Amino acid sequence: MSEAIHPVPEAWAKNALINADRYAELYRQSVEDPDGFWRQEAQRLDWLTPFTRVQRTSFDEADFGIRWFEDGALNIAANCLDRHLAVRGDAIAILWESDDPSEPERRISYRQLHAEVCRFANLLKARGVGRGDRVTLYLPMVPEAAVAMLACARIGAIHSIVFAGFSPDALAGRILDCGSRLVVTADEGLRGGRRVPLKANVDEALTHCRDVDSVIVLRRTGADVAMQAGRDVDWHEGVASQPAECPPEAMNAEDPLFILYTSGSTGKPKGVLHTTGGYAVWASMTHQYVFDYRPGQIFWCAADIGWVTGHSYVVYGPLINGATTVMFEGVPNWPDPSRFWQVVDKFGVEIFYGAPTALRALMREGDHWVQKTRRSSLRLLGSVGEPINPEAWEWYHRVVGEGRCPIVDTWWQTETGAAMITPLPGATDLKPGSASKPMFGVAPQLVDSEGKVLEGATEGCLVLTQSWPGQMRGVWGDPERFFQTYFTTFPGKYFTGDGCRRDADGYYWITGRIDDVINVSGHRMGTAEIESALVAHEAVAEAAVVGMPHAIKGQGIYAYVTTNAEVEPDEALRRALVQWVRHEIGPIATPDVIQFAPGLPKTRSGKIMRRILRKIAENETSNLGDISTLADPSVVATLIADRPQLA
Ligand code: WTA
Repeated sequence: MSEAIHPVPEAWAKNALINADRYAELYRQSVEDPDGFWRQEAQRLDWLTPFTRVQRTSFDEADFGIRWFEDGALNIAANCLDRHLAVRGDAIAILWESDDPSEPERRISYRQLHAEVCRFANLLKARGVGRGDRVTLYLPMVPEAAVAMLACARIGAIHSIVFAGFSPDALAGRILDCGSRLVVTADEGLRGGRRVPLKANVDEALTHCRDVDSVIVLRRTGADVAMQAGRDVDWHEGVASQPAECPPEAMNAEDPLFILYTSGSTGKPKGVLHTTGGYAVWASMTHQYVFDYRPGQIFWCAADIGWVTGHSYVVYGPLINGATTVMFEGVPNWPDPSRFWQVVDKFGVEIFYGAPTALRALMREGDHWVQKTRRSSLRLLGSVGEPINPEAWEWYHRVVGEGRCPIVDTWWQTETGAAMITPLPGATDLKPGSASKPMFGVAPQLVDSEGKVLEGATEGCLVLTQSWPGQMRGVWGDPERFFQTYFTTFPGKYFTGDGCRRDADGYYWITGRIDDVINVSGHRMGTAEIESALVAHEAVAEAAVVGMPHAIKGQGIYAYVTTNAEVEPDEALRRALVQWVRHEIGPIATPDVIQFAPGLPKTRSGKIMRRILRKIAENETSNLGDISTLADPSVVATLIADRPQLA
């Protein structure tokens, strides 16, 4: 644990939107008089019908409900586009950089983006999509991904983006769950010089999804892909005849905006549902304050739009605020580990927001890859997705930011919509590795496993006691699951699933998930999902998956597999199972270790004791705790003896 403190630089304290005094004052107001605070903050949007009621929220079972600005109406796409046209129509909305450094960048003005969104919205309508319909997007990181999102929002359709690294099976599951009839994809994606067969994946997925009657296909690489007559539409041919005007639908603040599937500790991924008004206020406000954003600045969030970070900080937050948002199709280390910083120099990026896993990978390649670039435009750095270890933090600060850029380490979740616990660059002294202080309106609490509230410097389970506008509103298709998952562990409170320490200065340090969710390279994976993929293989009788420490990815995937009696486990089977999981879920779920286990440690009632499996995976076998309650304690010694020696 680092004890270093980096005080707010003087210039930041003087010039930032929010300094320490202002933070204290606004924070107090936001929790003591939330209605007053949010009534004011919501004025950042253009409302078609102003709201009168700020919130009606309760986490208690008797009157459970989360409603913000519920009698107001607005259109979020109009807030991202139309209202900017008069003042900054010719300003750049999206600056796009290809995976291939030799391909020219694209600069898309607010006016052009508006026209593209309207055309595409009209195409969606022509294919029968309307208010409340779900549209699945399976797209590479190209401006058209933002166009498709905003077009859905413009006509009141609900987008569900599926990360383009997911397998056809995973895609099919998500299409079926939300009942999309239209899918938007590209011929191929391009990442790190490799082609990803997106259209072919969609075709495979759709063999399971009979209700899909339209597929809109963007030409990205120009590859020759099969087009099914009647169903498949070429994007550019489709929009060519559409008018560049499409009136935005007036949406109620609580109308759904998007669904985003994410992993939980049990069952299949759940469709996290966000609605319109509260999310828009929350994404916009946090983008402005956390990044001290001023119009005209070049902002780069290096996340994929397939994750919530891409929703809130590549598209909605920046565009509502009239920003120039950078969209990057590629990866940090291709063609070489200077790539990020070359893009920073090329565009004059002032604010860069990335994931610790990428930083750790780049750090390992050596400082010279960074130092051969200028980075003189950078003024602020951000981190998101997983805990950042103090070494990576210091490297980011010293080498990438040359000591002059504050780092905002933002803790949040798909469920929370946008940043929740984070420093503000003009207000918060920085402690490397700490997400520091709550955002306005966020009321964190630490409780023990019985729910007892812990005070002062302590460690416990992180819960939130008050609603905030960007909170998820439900699990698509399963209203019960929302309440069950988040509000029953500690009644009356939202349980985050994260463990957390609070120090004597009131700084929060997220220690990681305490449920059966693991965080691999900043991507959330449910261990249950990987287990069900493994047991779907004919050779596998049983599987248990846990996280293990991993120097680059943060956590790696460690799978214990028991094969069927007639199967002799060998190296070929191990390789086959790795491929199998990649095929079932996608490359992000690739197991790092598969240990064949003749038996798993179970209680007499048959429950797998994951605590023990975690310890073995971590190679912490000297301290396994009480194993006497196991049905067969001898399996533990076998597991320890068989543990593969890892480099
Ligand atoms: C983890 C990503 C520590 C945490 C925005 C959370 C973090 C999960 C941080 C959500 C951070 C995210 N420090 N841990 N700054 N940011 N996490 O839904 O465990 O993909 O619960 O949202 O990532 O992951 P999700």
